[in-house]
Amino acid sequence: MKTLLISLLAAATLPLTAQRDASIRIYPQQGTQIIDKNIYGQFSEDLGACIYGGLWVGPNSDIPNTKGYRNDVLKALKDLQVPVLRWPGGCFADEYHWMDGIGPYENRPKLVNNNWGGTVEDNSFGTHEFLNLCEMIGCDPYISANVGSGTVEEMAKWIEYMTADGESQMAVLRRKNGREKPWKVKFIGVGNESWGCGGNMRPEFYADMYRRYSTYCREYNGNRLFKVASGASDYDTNWTDVLMKNVGTRMNGLSLHYYTVGDWNHKGSATSFNNEDYYWTLGKCLEIESTIQKHITIMNKYDPKKQVALLVDEWGTWWDEEPGTIQGHLFQQNTMRDAFVAAITLNVFNKYTDRIKMANIAQVVNVLQSMILTDGPKMLLTPTYHVFEMYKVHQDATYLPLDLICDKTTVRDNREVPMLSASASRDKNGLIHITIANVDLDNAQNVSIDLQGTKIASVKGRILTSGNITDHNTFEKPDFVKPTAFNGSKIEKGQLKINMPAKSIVVLEVK
Ligand code: AHR
Repeated sequence: MKTLLISLLAAATLPLTAQRDASIRIYPQQGTQIIDKNIYGQFSEDLGACIYGGLWVGPNSDIPNTKGYRNDVLKALKDLQVPVLRWPGGCFADEYHWMDGIGPYENRPKLVNNNWGGTVEDNSFGTHEFLNLCEMIGCDPYISANVGSGTVEEMAKWIEYMTADGESQMAVLRRKNGREKPWKVKFIGVGNESWGCGGNMRPEFYADMYRRYSTYCREYNGNRLFKVASGASDYDTNWTDVLMKNVGTRMNGLSLHYYTVGDWNHKGSATSFNNEDYYWTLGKCLEIESTIQKHITIMNKYDPKKQVALLVDEWGTWWDEEPGTIQGHLFQQNTMRDAFVAAITLNVFNKYTDRIKMANIAQVVNVLQSMILTDGPKMLLTPTYHVFEMYKVHQDATYLPLDLICDKTTVRDNREVPMLSASASRDKNGLIHITIANVDLDNAQNVSIDLQGTKIASVKGRILTSGNITDHNTFEKPDFVKPTAFNGSKIEKGQLKINMPAKSIVVLEVK
């Protein structure tokens, strides 16, 4: 990787509102890897108001909906070009019994959501409702199957129900429930957090469980499955080692969960924090890179041909729940700080796309670092949504390596935060897109971008910024933070020069 970070000045030595200088050298000729679009994936757990009230209100709701799905949320997700959506959990998945969520609504048994606040749900959002939603927004479903408290038979029948055609018992049942053709389901998670809420297993035991359960993940009618083993939490490289050793290429993917959170008992407010907290958050968030590298080093040892993908299928910020909301529902606000976490994390994922083939931010609506928040009929797009929308140009584009020279600062816990983060790609039409985050709260940055002789005919861009790092959208002011046209770029002697205001995220399109 060609990233070179040079500390020129400590942040503290600069006067407020000074200019920093930085440079980026992009190597368009060296692009060989396609950025897997699934890195821009989403996660929708049956948790709080993610499903019920967020994605789904039911066909009889007063809230405008199409067959029970909120129209405003549907449109926002289509605009976002969501490539893949994970469901039903998370921890919820290992207690979910899919047969309770099929057939006429009135016959479905109620369920008590033991993981998340004990909320009673009516099971009206089940397999049909999820897979039809994926078809409507044009994304791949990623089903997380129950290993912790479910049987092999239950999991095997679920796959049969979703994907088999012909006279198989489960295909007949699906047809009876109104769906003639099987759905296209590629991604199957065999358990979730099996070291914790998914059964508290030891890695050796889970490796054997995986081998057993995955044996019965049958492929019907040419449907190809991509089987994902439950992976490590954060820094637990032993889990990765044991899985790689004992499961190897029997899995197509191994997951990793990494949350940007400090003390689990005092996570801190989503909206009320100081500058030091902000920089600390970025430091913790950026540690995902060295964490990924450690897991990848182990994977390379067992699998040098990179046949097993790494899937960061849960990531994002985790703050205290908003005061006044239901405990256990993990509803949190989303500020410009969260936008920076998204921007710099996605820049990291792009860089490791030779191994990272999917990532799913937690979660899509109303839970943790959401794209969308709802309150009854009201809905807003968060700053994180806007980052995903600006970054969608990287989906399935060719990753372009780059060198970055910028200032950096050291934050609490001795973590280093570079003042700039960037990523570049070339799309199928030859357009180069560059996403850059100036994380500096006080200083603008003059950034020279050298494209190694590539002819630049024109450049345009969009910017996401706001007066305060704590700024966010509310139901009263849903458009307070949103992207606007970026006018700070020019072409000078064949190079791009841009001036990025303090705390801003930019996407450039270079022709
Ligand atoms: O995303 C919330 C929870 O975090 C998920 O259910 C679980 O997998 C993780 O611990």
